[in-house]
Amino acid sequence: MRYSATIARLENEGSRAWELHARALEERRRGRDVILLSIGDPDFPTPPGIVDALVESVSRGDTRYGEVDGARELRHAIAERHARDTGTHVTWENVTVTPGAQGALFGAIMCLAQPGDEVVVPEPCYVTYDSVVQASGATLVSTPLRPERAFHLDPDDVAAAITPRTRVILINTPHNPTGAALGRDELEGLARLCRDHDLWLVSDEVYSRTLFDGRQHLSPCSLPGMASRCVVINSLSKSHAMTGWRVGWTVAPVAFARHMYNLALAIHYGLPTFVQTAAIEAVRGEHHEVAEMTRRYQERLDLICESLASCSNLAVVRPQGACFMMIDVRATGLSSMDFSWRLLEEAGVAVLACESFGRSAAGFVRLSLTASDDDLRRAGERIAGFAATLPGG
Ligand SMILES: Cc1ncc(COP(=O)(O)O)c(C=O)c1O
Repeated sequence: MRYSATIARLENEGSRAWELHARALEERRRGRDVILLSIGDPDFPTPPGIVDALVESVSRGDTRYGEVDGARELRHAIAERHARDTGTHVTWENVTVTPGAQGALFGAIMCLAQPGDEVVVPEPCYVTYDSVVQASGATLVSTPLRPERAFHLDPDDVAAAITPRTRVILINTPHNPTGAALGRDELEGLARLCRDHDLWLVSDEVYSRTLFDGRQHLSPCSLPGMASRCVVINSLSKSHAMTGWRVGWTVAPVAFARHMYNLALAIHYGLPTFVQTAAIEAVRGEHHEVAEMTRRYQERLDLICESLASCSNLAVVRPQGACFMMIDVRATGLSSMDFSWRLLEEAGVAVLACESFGRSAAGFVRLSLTASDDDLRRAGERIAGFAATLPGG
């Protein structure tokens, strides 16, 4: 039987990036002591007040169809939080609730790009971006994030990638996998390009609450003239340790939200109502756990840096935010793909090769900080032991 060309396009480098993670899981199932640092899934529990809100909601029978593009009260709560965080004026009508940030990304690109269009994406980038753009039929045009700029974006590189076909620039700040958080100058440079070339800016901000060393998040939608051409994507997955709950959203112009409604109608017909009730508690409530998780990630980062300090062939790239860190493994003489597969086989630690995220990050591997302190300490020791067996070690 025949499958569509659209679906065939979704099998690409990004989907293959998970092969090592799948193997590590399989080995663990078979009883091997494998430390999983290959996925960004917070190991902390969802704050209890949010869980209680869900249980109460289900118990009182809140189990019928909900509003397709999100419960009105949740949309209000997200709009209030967004307005407070960015200083922009938005209402519930600007907000669409989606199944995670992933649903928001898919929806945004489906709404804005079509065959013949180009979407400019700085690389390395989150592994699903390629599939999302491919699904729309548009072409992904990548632009490098360079190691020598600590993977910070250079607006001149983005400018060089713009053609008459460009419709969207898709960015992510704080960034997975590099941990770079874009500053005002970089965002102003991007905003100028968007205004000059009449482009949309899709800004994936799922790590906006996870910034290290006292940094503050800046969303490009708050820059002059940008609210009307920005789609801001966020979710509760990382900030509130709610990856499995699948609550994300877009904040964008009202006309965009109307198209998202039609898409939601066609795909999922809304999120579970009890999940949305609990999400209101997450968005409105003060949950000290959110800041606490960031503090713990930063401690874990220090812990790994300590274990690797004596490795002359490894160099840590210190992240500014998000829940990952990268290690430069180029001095070992191995590609990041070979390094990560051998590390799994020889030392039982699963990390991802950053070349799966884009060619500019070849030679780097990504470790997730979402494992216990003990696992991270053990992983640090194993990585150091493995690196010592390699050239330069
Ligand atoms: C940059 C980025 N965007 C989006 C997502 C998807 O998040 P969600 O779980 O909210 O769908 C992730 C998940 O790791 C991510 O790292």
